[in-house]
Amino acid sequence: MVIRQCNFSLTNGKISVIIYVIETNLIKEEIKLRRIAVCPGSFDPVTLGHLDIITRASRLFDKVIVLISRNAGKSQPSFTATERMIMIESVTRGLDNVVIDILDGLLADYVKNVGAIAIVKGLRAVSDFEYEFQMALANKKLYSGAETVFLTTTAENMYLSSSVVKQIAYFGGDISHFVPETILDDIQRRLIK
Ligand code: PNS
Repeated sequence: MVIRQCNFSLTNGKISVIIYVIETNLIKEEIKLRRIAVCPGSFDPVTLGHLDIITRASRLFDKVIVLISRNAGKSQPSFTATERMIMIESVTRGLDNVVIDILDGLLADYVKNVGAIAIVKGLRAVSDFEYEFQMALANKKLYSGAETVFLTTTAENMYLSSSVVKQIAYFGGDISHFVPETILDDIQRRLIK
C-alpha cells in the first residue's frame, strides 16, 4: 500500500487527517503496462528465425508489437504488407501479448507514439552487426526514449534469412526447415518459379 497524498485540516480545534492511499499492485500494473517493445522488420516472409526472436521478446516484455516496416534499401517485397501481416498473425496466435502492425514511416516516430521502451532485433552474425549498430544509433538519435535490444539468434537460425528462404523456394528447394509449417504452402505457392 502506498500513501499518495496526505491532507491536514483544523476544524473547531480538531485536527483531521485525510490520507489518500493507492494499492501497490496498481502502481506495479501502471509500470508493467509501459513495458512495450517493438520488433520491426521486413518479414518478407516471416521465418522460424523471426518467430524465435518474437517468442523470446514476448517473455521479456509485457507487450510486443511486431511491426512490418519498409526497408528503403531493399527492392519491392514479394508479399504485400497485408499478406505478411496475415502470415505473422497465424504463426503468433499462441502468444497472447503479441500484436501486429504495419508501418510506412519512420520507426523512431512509431516507437515514440506507442510509448515503447525497446526496439528488439535479432542478431545473427558479425555481418549483421555493423548495419544493426548503425540503425540502433540512428534510432537513438531520432528518439532517445527507447533502447535497441539485440537477441542473439539460436545456432540453427544463424544463417537463416527471408532472402535465403526466397532463393531456395524459387528454385523448388525444400524450405520446410526454415518457415513455420502453417504458412509453408502459402509461401511455396507464391514463390516457386
Ligand atoms: O528485416 P529488415 O529489412 O532488416 O528490417 C529493417 C527495418 C525494416 C527494421 C528498417 O529498415 C526500418 O526500421 N525501416 C523503417 C524506416 C526507418 O525508420 N528507417 C530508418 C532506420 S534507422
